[in-house]
Amino acid sequence: MTVGREELTGALLARLARRSPAFQHSVWDAVDLLVAGAGPETIFFGNGNPAPERVPYEAMQRASQRTWEQIGELPKRIEYGEPEGLPELRDMIAERMRARGVTATRDDILPTTGSQQAIDFLARLMLNPGDAVVVEGPTYLGALQVFDAYEVEYIVAPVDDRGLDVDRLRAMLDARTVMPKLIYTIPTFQNPTGVTMPLERRKALVELAREREILIVEDDPYCDLWFDELPPPALRSLDDNVAYCGTFSKTIAPSIRSGWVVAPTGFQKMLAIMKEVADINHDKVMMRTVLNAVPDFLDEHLVGSRELYRVRRDAMLAGLERHMPAGTSWSQPAGGFFVWVTLPEGLNAIELLPFAVERFGVAYLAGEWFYPGFSWPEASRTLRLSYSKHPEARIEEGMRRLGAAISAALETR
Ligand SMILES: Cc1ncc(COP(=O)(O)O)c(C=O)c1O
Repeated sequence: MTVGREELTGALLARLARRSPAFQHSVWDAVDLLVAGAGPETIFFGNGNPAPERVPYEAMQRASQRTWEQIGELPKRIEYGEPEGLPELRDMIAERMRARGVTATRDDILPTTGSQQAIDFLARLMLNPGDAVVVEGPTYLGALQVFDAYEVEYIVAPVDDRGLDVDRLRAMLDARTVMPKLIYTIPTFQNPTGVTMPLERRKALVELAREREILIVEDDPYCDLWFDELPPPALRSLDDNVAYCGTFSKTIAPSIRSGWVVAPTGFQKMLAIMKEVADINHDKVMMRTVLNAVPDFLDEHLVGSRELYRVRRDAMLAGLERHMPAGTSWSQPAGGFFVWVTLPEGLNAIELLPFAVERFGVAYLAGEWFYPGFSWPEASRTLRLSYSKHPEARIEEGMRRLGAAISAALETR
């Protein structure tokens, strides 16, 4: 979606807030263009949606029925108010956080409209224009959209196959006089690379942030979707100087917009008031439905989800192995939805994309889009593939097409 400048008169444009450019274009413009230009047979490995067959329709339907019965018994349940969220829902989330090693009570937890809103609230609370924020390079582009709106300076900490490179970050901080306010990180099955930070590095990051008095924002949407073994404990389990963002978007469905933040001590009340300012209170109908559904079905449901995504991850890694020309490399995700691919020398993922779509019927997201400004020449050879939505045979066919596109591009260089 782009706001065409022709839609705004010059006089109105001049009166917009300084932050308004953050709302005038989106990286999804490029994706929309791409999809619009692609035929129905194009295999699109772009988005981060869960598999439609893992959306628990029946469990949610039953829970929804129960919700409306409960509202009928006490209509006050859907009146305005209670911005801090349903107490029983917060208890349930606190209980689930134990699996991440996090000790929390209902008072530490604020339900939010997806974890996206949690990231926005933390940014709104902490950032003045010009403040610096550490993000991983590459990182989740929805978080970049948030930080852009607060007019920040970015410090891009590189990610290797063990997540954010803490030694490099320390050196970057040593070279500065003014410290950043936040470190935004996705340490577990990272979006977009799929990599996971081991425990030792987690400890080092938490220590560095505490030493330099920088708040960590830990974004953890994929933690339940592990394949081989449980991921390391959350950063939040190691230190209170971490705001933890969680969500049911990947385990139930994105559109229920049900996330939460585990706030550092002292933040809880401010975040609840921020919820009130943003949208008065959360969606009490959906939150009650989540509360009615999750305890009965989610853990068992997750067993099937992990199995399905593991099979798809395996199909993608096998397809990459089979079809990519020499000089191509890729990450080895142990959970989540994504594989990060680096093309052979001399290729550029943004330039390759229209060729891959038009000639070979395969699409992906270019790696540079996961950096501030949606542009990062050092990452020009990278791209993100998502295996979450496609059955194995389609993944195999998609990897065949991608391999053919890369090989053809290499020949025409
Ligand atoms: C790393 C990361 N954070 C946050 C989100 C958004 O989550 P939610 O739907 O809970 O707002 C996503 C969705 O793709 C994501 O990948």
